Amino acid sequence: QVIRRQDYRPPDWQVPEVALDFALDPAATRVKARLEVVRTGAHDRPLVLDGDGLTPLSVTVDGVTINDWRLEDGRLVVPLPGSAHVVETEVELAPERNTQLMGLYASGGILCTQCEAEGFRRITFFPDRPDVLSRYRVRMMADKARFPVLLANGDPIAHGEAGEGRHWAEWHDPFPKPSYLFALVAGDLAVNRGTFTTMSGREVELGIWVRARDLDRTHHALSALKTSMAWDERTYGREYDLDVFNIVAVDDFNFGAMENKGLNIFNSRYILADPDTATDYDYDAVAAVVAHEYFHNWSGNRVTCRDWFQLSLKEGFTVYRDQSFSADQGSPAVKRIEDVRSLRAAQFPEDAGPLAHPIRPDAYLEISNFYTATIYNKGAEVIRMIATILGPQAFRAGCDLYFERFDGTAATCEDFVASMEEASGKDLAQFRRWYSQAGTPRVAATLTHEGGRAELRLAQRVPPTPGQEHKEPMVLPLKLRLFGAETGRPLGDEQLILMTDSTETITFEGVGERPVLSFNRGFSAPIVVESDRSAADLAFLGRHDDDPFARYEAMQQLMLDALVASVAAGNDSSQDGGHQAVLAAIADTLDDPALDPAFIAEAVLLPSESFIGDQMAVVDPDAIFRAREALRRNIGRELEGRWRAAYDSASAAGPYAYTSAAKGLRRLRTVALGFLMASGAADAGALAFRQFDDADNMTDRQGALGALAGSNAPERVPALDIFYNRYSDNPLVLDKWFSTQALSARDDTLAAVEELARHPDFALANPNRARSLIGAFSVNQRAFHAASGAGYRFVADQLIQLDRINPQTAAKLLPPLGRWRRFDAARAARMRAELERIVKAPGLSRDMFEQASKSLAG
Ligand code: ARG
Ligand code: ZN
Repeated sequence: QVIRRQDYRPPDWQVPEVALDFALDPAATRVKARLEVVRTGAHDRPLVLDGDGLTPLSVTVDGVTINDWRLEDGRLVVPLPGSAHVVETEVELAPERNTQLMGLYASGGILCTQCEAEGFRRITFFPDRPDVLSRYRVRMMADKARFPVLLANGDPIAHGEAGEGRHWAEWHDPFPKPSYLFALVAGDLAVNRGTFTTMSGREVELGIWVRARDLDRTHHALSALKTSMAWDERTYGREYDLDVFNIVAVDDFNFGAMENKGLNIFNSRYILADPDTATDYDYDAVAAVVAHEYFHNWSGNRVTCRDWFQLSLKEGFTVYRDQSFSADQGSPAVKRIEDVRSLRAAQFPEDAGPLAHPIRPDAYLEISNFYTATIYNKGAEVIRMIATILGPQAFRAGCDLYFERFDGTAATCEDFVASMEEASGKDLAQFRRWYSQAGTPRVAATLTHEGGRAELRLAQRVPPTPGQEHKEPMVLPLKLRLFGAETGRPLGDEQLILMTDSTETITFEGVGERPVLSFNRGFSAPIVVESDRSAADLAFLGRHDDDPFARYEAMQQLMLDALVASVAAGNDSSQDGGHQAVLAAIADTLDDPALDPAFIAEAVLLPSESFIGDQMAVVDPDAIFRAREALRRNIGRELEGRWRAAYDSASAAGPYAYTSAAKGLRRLRTVALGFLMASGAADAGALAFRQFDDADNMTDRQGALGALAGSNAPERVPALDIFYNRYSDNPLVLDKWFSTQALSARDDTLAAVEELARHPDFALANPNRARSLIGAFSVNQRAFHAASGAGYRFVADQLIQLDRINPQTAAKLLPPLGRWRRFDAARAARMRAELERIVKAPGLSRDMFEQASKSLAG
């Protein structure tokens, strides 16, 4: 049944104190819960405790066993006469059989929990909603040999021996928290310890817990944690509040990581890193996720969400915070480019498809389906726009007010926006539409110039989305600047325009030469810009724009225009003007000695096939592939000398170092290698193999493997085999082996992927492995969208199987199949047929049902 935001009602009962007692065993764990419950307000409703798959072994009220409880839809209903009672329950669980990885489960011999959003109800009966805040005392008992380490939230209180080879530990968390932040871990774990002294002088003991064999790969995570703690003090004045902060890494995890109070639990891919097994991209992701989860201690834990419709309150804000953190650690320009690229890759299609929803949704069937790019990444863009509109000081004052006023409470998005208004004195009434309207605004920008006067005409519209036919104009903070076409110099300063109406006109006086428009600089608003700037003007901006993002953007638009034109012309080997302008712009970029290699590597990269498709009325994956390959080949051939020079100078960087400069050179090196491969140069395969073989780090090795995997070079198979044999005992690297092949541009990718699904190392039950094959394959545009429909059938078969094991992870992989409206009638029919097959699958989960049925309807 549908849950609606407007139906929110405060809880009937609060639970100020909870004591949990776990007798841990993978096959049969006993959980005793002691809840102090207090009636809120004047009502006579019974106590209703959520439960999912639980049967009570006993229920007592104020110490007396009762029998008048009942189960309704899994919930335990207990009639209670007075207004304060102690309710105790006991249940038994089998963590080793929990394949959903929600609640208490086993991963590689470690017992661990995942409770957000609604996993706690799979552990014990409880009002499992984020506006019930409790103090937790947790006692755990387990076999000492198998589970020597026992961790929970908060501070350790006591531990001891329990006889029969068992031991126990007790933890207490002084901060009231919602049940979704509960965590415990039991296992044979080694620790990398550190300390951090907070700004008020508190000593915090830090620990990164992993299996002993992984201990050497925890240093980067530990140092990122310390950097994050210092950054949040410096940037937001936010200090850590417990004596210990622990992180545990496990191999089986449904998403990235979880911010449980004082005990973060991570997917091991966001903790473990060393140069031999992790790429620069992986290192950056480890630091970003460590920071993200740490920042949640304030934006999420100290101030939590009133209900799950408010999810973006903590996630959008925390993503904005982790993005700012990462920008401060390296190049802000490159970080912004990366963030916008992933917004366009994941969120724009969501906003334009059947699963579109506002960052504060109005209804859901299954909340797990709403941990989306919209809630997270568009949510972060909305916070960024508030920061832009308010300016840094007022934004910080608004954050201070929000944290102060709502500390220890469960708040709403409205509370956040109202804090920003109050602290800044700015009216955000119309801005609030960003919380209620779905869809990516489109802004048409036309610049005209006559007799010293320039006129910029802007028109915005927000496309209809399911359930929202009609949209009101948004508030758009637009940064712009004009440049003189002749002199190449800026005509005046950068301006920030707040567009609030459907159409607006901005005039510029004293414009003596033809102006060129640099628009939405820094991607100041998350919109699609429709402008008729010529290839010459885009090339000009690609050379002269002083905003690095806008410069990158001009290059992208130039390439995009050329690619869309050649797809439309059915033109796959053109030497036409479109290609020539792109070639010249890339040559200029490569030749500019002032540019950072990391920026160059971004700026010369062609738009992805799916982003090109997003520009078309009907996506033609084969034509897009041909046009893009033709342009790549041309760029490779015509600029071969420059690619070789770039490759050689980047290769001369010396032994591996993890510095921004070295990272930039590695990135440029692999981009250059890719163009050399595309050029068809006779020695390119050998060059790639040499890079693969000589590499002293995973970035270079995987970069070369990726280039080979998509080619017909004779070195391809040997490289894949060497890679497999070298890393066959490292699951995170094996994931790369699977995904590299699933992303390959070769003609035989589908057949290869079908075979990989039968490989002994493939395991649907491990979410990372499932994503590395199925997830990677379904973003491989040409292979997934093979006209035969075999790619769709393969993915649907896998998802139907996976749904029986782990519905949450299966449902996350469905959206590519749901985009049928964007394709020709034959493909659309085949995609729909698979969606219909999924909807009819016996025992389908609610997660999959929501995604598949909405995809069919939308
Ligand atoms: N709160 C976690 C994070 O963003 C993610 C939890 C995801 N939960 C889910 N049911 N998908 O850091
Ligand atoms: Zn988060």
